[in-house]
Parts: sequence; structure tokens; C-alpha cells
Amino acid sequence: MLGHTPSADRTAGGAGGNAPDRPVTAARRATKAVIPAAGLATRFLPATKAVPKELLPVVDRPVLQYIVEEAASASINDILLVTGRGKTSMVDHFDRNPYLESRLEAKGDIARLNAVRRTSELAEIYTCRQGEPLGLGHAVSYAESHVGGEPFAVLLADEFCAEDEPLLPSMLDLQAQTGGIVLSFIEIPEDQVNRYGIASVEEVDPSLAAVSDAGSVVKVTGLVEKPPVGEAPSNLAVVGRYVLPFSIFDAIRRTKPGSGGEIQLTDAMAILLAEGTPVHGIVYRGHRYDTGIPLGYLQATVQLACEREDLGPAFRQWLVDYLAGSSPAGGAS
Ligand code: G1P
Repeated sequence: MLGHTPSADRTAGGAGGNAPDRPVTAARRATKAVIPAAGLATRFLPATKAVPKELLPVVDRPVLQYIVEEAASASINDILLVTGRGKTSMVDHFDRNPYLESRLEAKGDIARLNAVRRTSELAEIYTCRQGEPLGLGHAVSYAESHVGGEPFAVLLADEFCAEDEPLLPSMLDLQAQTGGIVLSFIEIPEDQVNRYGIASVEEVDPSLAAVSDAGSVVKVTGLVEKPPVGEAPSNLAVVGRYVLPFSIFDAIRRTKPGSGGEIQLTDAMAILLAEGTPVHGIVYRGHRYDTGIPLGYLQATVQLACEREDLGPAFRQWLVDYLAGSSPAGGAS
């Protein structure tokens, strides 16, 4: 379903100034998400010259649909897509298409009809445009009036988390307990720290450690965006899933351009951390792929294709034969 962005509500809210590791009285679980999707996708050119990277298919669904499904299965049914120039087709994907639906109905192709209709029923999709891509923090700042004083999730549309290893529900539960910022991390090789937000962490209170099924919970003591190799406080990289208090918007306004000359979300979160907002993270145990680059995109595609009930058996067999150098010439048709 497509919707209109509701009128602005700039009530200040969110956490701040709480004792760093003590759970505050449970806050309301976030029910809205923001998907920043205005970027130029230079890492996947020329494929993304005219097609948004968010619409590249993984098996038979665009990457963005998986992200919306991930949010919906975590009970987030209100999603703000921050789009940009040339990316309107992303919005079309979640709209009804009565002509296509009536053609499929007339042909009796009910499976495809249901698949097409489902895209418009996953969530309420709202949109706004980021005129110039000036950084992730800048993109998130567009959500202020939509979010309306509540905590909210941010999902980066080029990062794919395996459906059967959900991360977001644990992050939302943890945020409802702490009222602060909740991040997730993966461990990366030391020579890749300059591509990510990096955190320094310590152990958490045992009462919080039990909240997550998705990985171990840690308390964040420092955050830095894309540090030079050799200068990072750890090898824990921030994954593109965030649950943020409303106070992030004020912090973004106070954030100066950082890495790459952009307004970085990591820098805004570091401001809140320094001011006493509790920041926790889950070291994710599941599979996460960067579908914004060809290698990660291929890995996600192969994993999903292997797992699909309809395609998996034939695809796995072909893959085994191919890797053994014995695949028959010609593929499926
Ligand atoms: C963004 C964030 C970074 C995070 C990364 C995850 O960077 O700024 O902190 O680690 O996403 O993919 P980008 O990939 O947009 O440069």
C-alpha cells in the first residue's frame, strides 16, 4: 500500500542521559522503519546506471522487497522510503498494477497474480525525496516528521540478512528495554575497517544479554566511521540495521560533515553516546550479504536459490556439477 507522509510532529523524544547499561522502563517497541535509498550505487555500475540497485533481483524478487518483508515480519508495517532522482520505479514496485493483475487473472495464473498483489500488501509505504545524497545521516534526517517522536528502525537497502536468521526482532526488543540506540555488528578482516562504521564494546549487564536470539549483546563504548586501517578500535563493523531513538534527529542537526565530506549517521550516534544515551549492539550470528557489490549480490543469490523449495534441488545439482566441471552444456529454459 502506498501512503502519504503524515503531517509533521516535531515533539522531542527518545532517550538520553540514562545510566549507560541499566535497562530503563520498557519503551514502546518501534513500529516504523526508514529505508534510505537515494544513493547513486556507483559500486555496481554499469548495471545501476538506469536501474536502481534496490530493484536488482535476487532470484525473482528485488532486493528491496526482501528488506520490506524483513521489516514486515518484525511487525513493522509503516515504511518511509527515502528516494532520489531516477528511482521512482522502486515506489511502483509496491503499488497496485490493475492492468497486470487483470491479465494474470484472465489467464488463470493465480500463483503469479498472488505474488504481484502481495507486493502492495506487505506494508504501508510512504516516500520522500532526498534532493542531494549528502550522507546517511542526512538521508535519515528526512524521516523526522514521519517518525513522530517515537523510536524507529533504519534498514539499509543493499544489505541482506538471511530470512531464517532474523536480526531485527531482537534489535527491536533490546531497544524497547534500553530506550537507547541498538546496532548490530559483524566481525570483519582488519584490512576492511576503512569501509564501515566501527565500534569499541564491552560486556553487558546479564539481564540484557538474554534479550537476543540473533547473537551476543554488547555495550558500545565508542563509534567511529571508516577509520584508517591500523587505527580502528576493533574489527566489529556496523551492519545496516539500526534502531534509533527520536533524539537522533537533533544529533544529526549538530553533526558536521565527516568521512567523505558527508553527514554521517555514525557521527550523530557518537554524539548521543558521548551525552549518555545507552548504545548496545548484537554481534550477528547469521549470514549478511552486501548486495550493493557484485560479489555479495552473487552470494545472496546463490544462497537463496539453493534454499528455495521450487528451484533449490535442480540448482544445487547444477552447481555441484558445474564446480566439478561436469555440467551439461546449456541450462534450464
Ligand atoms: C554505511 C554506514 C557504515 C556502515 C555501513 C554498513 O556506510 O555509514 O557505518 O558500517 O553502511 O554497510 P556505506 O556503506 O553507506 O558507505
